[in-house]
Amino acid sequence: MKTSRITGWGKCMPPNVLSNHDLEQIVDTSDEWITTRTGIKERRISHVETSDLAAVAGLRALAAAGKKPEDVDLLLLATCTGDSLIPSTASVVQKKIGANACAAMDLNAACSGFVYGLVVGTNMIRGGTSKTVLLIGAEKLHYVTDFTDRTTCVLFGDGAGAVVLEASDGEDGLLASDLGLDGSVYDILQTPVDGSMGDRISPDPRKSGIKMEGQEVFRRAVTMMGESSVTSLQRAGLHLDDVDLLIPHQANVRIIDATARRLGLPEHKVFVNIHSYGNTSAATIPVALTEALEEGRVQPGSTLLFAAFGGGLSWGSAVYRWGDRTEPLGESDVTLPEPDRTTMELLQANFDFFGLPEKLS
Ligand SMILES: CC(C)(COP(=O)(O)OP(=O)(O)OC[C@H]1O[C@@H](n2cnc3c(N)ncnc32)[C@H](O)[C@@H]1OP(=O)(O)O)[C@@H](O)C(=O)NCCC(=O)NCCS
Repeated sequence: MKTSRITGWGKCMPPNVLSNHDLEQIVDTSDEWITTRTGIKERRISHVETSDLAAVAGLRALAAAGKKPEDVDLLLLATCTGDSLIPSTASVVQKKIGANACAAMDLNAACSGFVYGLVVGTNMIRGGTSKTVLLIGAEKLHYVTDFTDRTTCVLFGDGAGAVVLEASDGEDGLLASDLGLDGSVYDILQTPVDGSMGDRISPDPRKSGIKMEGQEVFRRAVTMMGESSVTSLQRAGLHLDDVDLLIPHQANVRIIDATARRLGLPEHKVFVNIHSYGNTSAATIPVALTEALEEGRVQPGSTLLFAAFGGGLSWGSAVYRWGDRTEPLGESDVTLPEPDRTTMELLQANFDFFGLPEKLS
């Protein structure tokens, strides 16, 4: 056994949509500004918890792998917006999918969480501790989004994606990877007091939403995704010409374009779906992978390059050789409950906590 291969994949996007035109009614922004500066047209707002999105994506990935929940012996949930600090949200997902007493834990590397999870899950398989890993990236980012701040509220969305990892003895699977983090700049992207630093008596809304130095994050993202990708390819003994499809973290289409230019990858070798979902943090790559498979962009033997960056400031990349099967073995009929509120009704809790956005006051 040399590595792990992805044998199942799935996603769960909540149905409520928040479009750029909706945001025009909330803050001083425009569809034109958001589209040209970020590539985003709309994002999803979840009416359920992160664990619900994760459970549905996970069950769909298991069905695609032809596996049952009880086959899972390690459940890894990459998230930075879990349901609670204790228990881990992975515990709740384990119960919701009925995965017996498997090992389960949350993994927080922010938007790099899926790539981190891919490496951790693979090494658990390599080491013989796990046989079937369910790796889920799931986020409910709107919970920490301050809709009085137009510089961040247009960027983020909710959703989940998942893969099943099993042992591979062949030439396919995870070939090489690179992970890193620069904690000296941890404060350029943060929700300052959502942990033990928080004020229990009166949580300060100004310190509870996502805060970001956008241009600094942008600059570092392009540099680190590029450098990390080159490192992973070198470790795999491959060249950029060998890459069939780059599946990057979807944070800003200009970051994706700049990274692809830096790597010399043409547009047709880059997967982009940010227009539909915005930045869903740890969920972007498994959701994009699922859609790339559905659209026939992944072929038997394709060489994929995953690249991500996120809060921390973390980064990661992985070179992955796809196997023979690009079709799911089965489908799950599990779905989310129907939303009982409109998108604006769902956002009311944010307005109550963070304050009423300028256009609504
Ligand atoms: C946030 C980001 C989209 C901003 O784009 P940008 O081109 O750097 O824009 P700037 O910050 O220079 O702002 C330019 C102007 O647009 C304004 N602006 C910011 N948000 C706006 C919005 N939603 N609508 C309209 N105008 C906006 C700014 O106030 C600024 O106005 P000014 O020139 O009058 O001061 C971009 O920096 C980015 O994507 N950074 C990375 C963020 C990220 O990926 N975070 C997640 C990491 S996982």
